[in-house]
Parts: sequence; structure tokens; C-alpha cells
Amino acid sequence: MKIFLDTADAAKIKKYAEMGMVDGVTTNPTLILKSGRRQEDVTKEICKMVDGPVSAEGNAEKAEDIVKEGEVFASWAKNIVVKVPMTPEGLKAVRVLSKKGIKTNVTLVFTSAQALLVAKAGATYVSPFVGRLDDIGEDGMALIEEIMRMYKNYGFKTQVIVASVRSSAHVVRAAAAGADIATVPVNIMDEMFTHKLTDAGIRKFHDDWEAAKKKA
Ligand code: G3P
Repeated sequence: MKIFLDTADAAKIKKYAEMGMVDGVTTNPTLILKSGRRQEDVTKEICKMVDGPVSAEGNAEKAEDIVKEGEVFASWAKNIVVKVPMTPEGLKAVRVLSKKGIKTNVTLVFTSAQALLVAKAGATYVSPFVGRLDDIGEDGMALIEEIMRMYKNYGFKTQVIVASVRSSAHVVRAAAAGADIATVPVNIMDEMFTHKLTDAGIRKFHDDWEAAKKKA
């Protein structure tokens, strides 16, 4: 399974890219706001740091405006993917952008019915939001499992990005379900590296190493 970083924090992306952990990046208006930078500047910088796809999201609602906005984003770098809202206008834009050779990521997907339409529209990626479903008492990962079964049944090419990830368990369940990608926020990426027994084990081996040196 590929791991994307769900952030517009260029310094954090650099850190994990240097470890070879970043297969791509997803951003959204909230993450751009958090970065405190102009979307164009930070997105261009991320695209230079990461070879894989970098999703950029705009604000347009009408299909022709989404296409225009998407063309601007696509002119920034070769690895740009245009995030498109899960609406009839959004899916109309997906068809046009695909014909122009521009990759798309349909965002804010919450049901299997929506995911089916996204695949039929020919989107490159679909982003079901698992955490936000869990927040309202639904089972986000059950949605992923159903979408994976559905896409497999018909050989749909659209790749599934598990989004709105809230725990390392979400990432593991995404991999177990055979999802193509999980887009992981930085705090969860940090969490994935650690376990209290790893830390305790390192401390104990370190202490014993020093003690053995003194005895020898
Ligand atoms: O990038 C889309 C998605 O991952 C947002 O997650 O935490 O705002 O629900 P969240």
C-alpha cells in the first residue's frame, strides 16, 4: 500500500521524504490555511520534493470552473492531481479533465454509491473519508472494504485513497482491506513509528551496553 502525507507542511514532508516514506501528498483548503502560505507557492515546493502525485484542491463549483481551476493547478507541476468535489458538476469535470490528460481525485466521498459513480466517471483516485464517518457513529473502514470489493468485481481502475485517517489502526485496516493508498496526517505518521516496548527496549539495551563496557 502506498502512503501519502495529508499535509501542506513542507518541512514535515521533507523529513519523511528523506526516509523514503512519501509516495505522494494530499492537500485541501484547511491544510493550506494551516500552512500559512500561498497555495501556489507551497504546492510548487511540495511538487519538487515529492516524485509522486500531489493533490491540490480549489473552490470552484460549476464543472467548467472546476476544469479551468484544474488546468491552472496542472500547469504548476507534472505530478499535480486535481481534487474535485463529489457532486454532479464535479464528476462532469472529471470526464473533461481526464480527456485532457489531467489526473483527478474525487474528495468528500462517504458512501459506496458515490464511489461507484466516481469510478464510472473515470477518476484517477477516490477519497472516502473514514474518520469523519467514525465521528458520526458510522464505520468508516467498512465503507473501504465494500468499495474495494465493488471495484474488484468490475475491474475499475480508480485507486482508493483512504482519507480522514485518525489512527495507525486506520492505516493497518486500510492495508488489510487492500486499499491502494492511505493518506496519513503527520501526527499519525509519527505514531506509526513508535511503541512503548520499543522505547523501553532501546533504553534497556543502551544501559546494558554501557554496563558491559564497564565490566570488560
Ligand atoms: O484531505 C482530506 C482528509 O484527509 C481530511 O481529513 O481529518 O479533516 O477529516 P479530516
